[in-house]
Amino acid sequence: MIESNIKKVLVSEEEIQKRVKELGKIITKDFKETKGLIVVGLLRGSILFMADLMREIKLPLKIDFMTVSSYGNQFETTREVKILKDLDENVMGKDILIVEDIIDSGLTLSKIMEILKNRNPNSIKLCTLLNKSARREVNIKADYIGFDIPDEFVLGYGLDYLQEYRNLPYVGVMKEDVNE
Ligand code: XMP
Ligand code: MG
Repeated sequence: MIESNIKKVLVSEEEIQKRVKELGKIITKDFKETKGLIVVGLLRGSILFMADLMREIKLPLKIDFMTVSSYGNQFETTREVKILKDLDENVMGKDILIVEDIIDSGLTLSKIMEILKNRNPNSIKLCTLLNKSARREVNIKADYIGFDIPDEFVLGYGLDYLQEYRNLPYVGVMKEDVNE
């Protein structure tokens, strides 16, 4: 049972689904006038959030994905951000909504924003399911935040520990003895 390694549920399935609906409504309103919305999911952590959120955005849109590596090991953020899979869409003149699982130090997102800005989109907005502001190292603020969370290593609803646990429908905190 994967659940036996979970110390506690931080954000329940019901809380996530309720918040996703709220965010979808706000985003739908904010992008009403868009001439081309591209929702960009950062793989792999954003996939559950992205799949749920996009169904709540009641506008024509395209989706695309990007994979970057920024995590040296499971618990430390490394300084380097490398593009492993780039977008397929041309974003010039488009409105980009980046969808991310969690903002921690903010280094990954600030690099991605820099890269995407250089492609001359009309606008870039950032939506993150989770925000760990205690660990922020660069000045980056998400336009849409699901939940502010304390500085704990979390997993589930897309977030992993050693590539597992992504399929949990909630966000949980792992038991300490599993990380040894
Ligand atoms: P930065 O520090 O650049 O990192 O904002 C963001 C990326 O780090 C990963 N991350 C986590 N992954 N549980 C996870 O499963 C966590 O508690 C956690 N904190 C950061 C995540 O991949 C995110 O995209
Ligand atoms: Mg990630």
